[in-house]
Amino acid sequence: MPPETRSFYPVIDCISFFGLGKLGLPLAALFARSELRTLAIDIDRELVARLRAGQVPYPEPGLDDLLAEAEPRITYASEARGAFGTDASIILVPTPSDAGHPEFSSRHIEQACRDLCAALKARTEWRYHLIVISSTVFPGTVATRIAPLLEQLLGRRAGRDFGIAYVPDFVALGDVVRGFQEPQFLLIGSDDEESHAQAAALFRRIVAPGTPIQHLSIRDAELAKVAANVFLCTKISFGNFLAQLADRLGGADLDSIASALALDPRIGGGFLRAGSPYGGTCLPRDVDAFVALARSVDLDAPLASAVRDVNKAQYDLIERHLLAGNPRCVAVLGLSFKPGTSVTIGSPAFELVRRLAQRSVRVAVYDPAADARESAHAAFGDAITCHESITACVAAADAVLVCNSDPAFRGLAAKVAPDRRIIDPWGCVLGTHPGLVRIGRDQALAASLLASRRRKPSLRAVR
Ligand SMILES: NC(=O)c1ccc[n+]([C@@H]2O[C@H](COP(=O)([O-])OP(=O)(O)OC[C@H]3O[C@@H](n4cnc5c(N)ncnc54)[C@H](O)[C@@H]3O)[C@@H](O)[C@H]2O)c1
Repeated sequence: MPPETRSFYPVIDCISFFGLGKLGLPLAALFARSELRTLAIDIDRELVARLRAGQVPYPEPGLDDLLAEAEPRITYASEARGAFGTDASIILVPTPSDAGHPEFSSRHIEQACRDLCAALKARTEWRYHLIVISSTVFPGTVATRIAPLLEQLLGRRAGRDFGIAYVPDFVALGDVVRGFQEPQFLLIGSDDEESHAQAAALFRRIVAPGTPIQHLSIRDAELAKVAANVFLCTKISFGNFLAQLADRLGGADLDSIASALALDPRIGGGFLRAGSPYGGTCLPRDVDAFVALARSVDLDAPLASAVRDVNKAQYDLIERHLLAGNPRCVAVLGLSFKPGTSVTIGSPAFELVRRLAQRSVRVAVYDPAADARESAHAAFGDAITCHESITACVAAADAVLVCNSDPAFRGLAAKVAPDRRIIDPWGCVLGTHPGLVRIGRDQALAASLLASRRRKPSLRAVR
């Protein structure tokens, strides 16, 4: 290590950004639009070629305009050599959970660090460089893996010669561009004042004035990010359990109950509503990681484990309603894990299609996003029929499942024949329809379903 001299802290004028995925590309473009020269790096050469050609690789509201506005200050590259001349770097690459290992892998972050450090080492004269990790990491990763790796690769000391900050993202796909600019708060994890000051100055450039900034240690910020998602899942599972309870009671309207509870500020209405099980790229794996983290210190996590159990029970409840009419063909509407995105990773629709296919029920599917339909075709092949309109999808189906709350499904009652059933876990279908089952919301239908289950003991086998 070089001697104990304080490094000169540069004003950040130019950054390198590693990982131009669904989150990284919008974030890099926001920094470029804030007048920072931005070297946007991704190892995916095809993606870089598309970006250089002016194409927008992901369907994300506002991304096309943002990329156009960022264009004068953003340069796309498939390798990191140019990071040599930058003042700070942000790393937002995948942190996958590998099979059987709920702890997220940091291998892509480590590779980005190696690429960055190789570029920085080429400098003849060292100057301070801020390194921001923005990927979701397993709590403890920065201290145990990333900081030692950077110190070793650079031969310099963190907190003195270079800064490290952990700035996790709280945005949701389909709302990424707005979410990055108008977060509820900004969480900055750092273990020294200069890293915090530099990271705060950097992110203040892109967030709305007045956005609260919370300064935590890196370790606490890592834990806070995962804990936030586990808490959201807890609220979702609580709402879904109310639906399960209302369904059994046969006389409750869970939307009214949730609206009443939401009036209590100690509870709050956000995420307290019933629908499909939670899914997607982050929530299920964050709950698994949280349970694994607790186990790593010999602690059970009964609350988080129960959240998973309730989520599974929500699948069972929806499946039970679907099969109650012994359908030969089911239409599944909404393949992406939430409206406004085409991402189908961890999609509840896929799990339900799998369950139906296992029972030899024919499945017709529809999603407004062509990418989502293609992913379904790739996953299920001839076991499903993909349709390009709602009307075509529901035409031959005995039952229709509303798998996400896309506003396009609100008018479904007019498109489905009266002798067919519509299973709506979200309560989003407007109007009336003789076969509409708003799970946990409709006293009369819930009661009749209960009665039909009592009449047909064979259906109990389905539960
Ligand atoms: N997607 C979400 O909703 C969401 C929300 C909050 C946090 N996160 C976290 O953000 C991180 C990124 O998620 P994402 O959805 O943007 O991922 P993504 O898979 O869409 O994109 C990641 C990109 O990183 C690139 N990459 C991989 N290794 C690289 C390297 N060494 N150098 C440069 N580029 C590299 C990949 O080619 C890819 O384009 C993850 O840790 C995730 O957990 C995601």
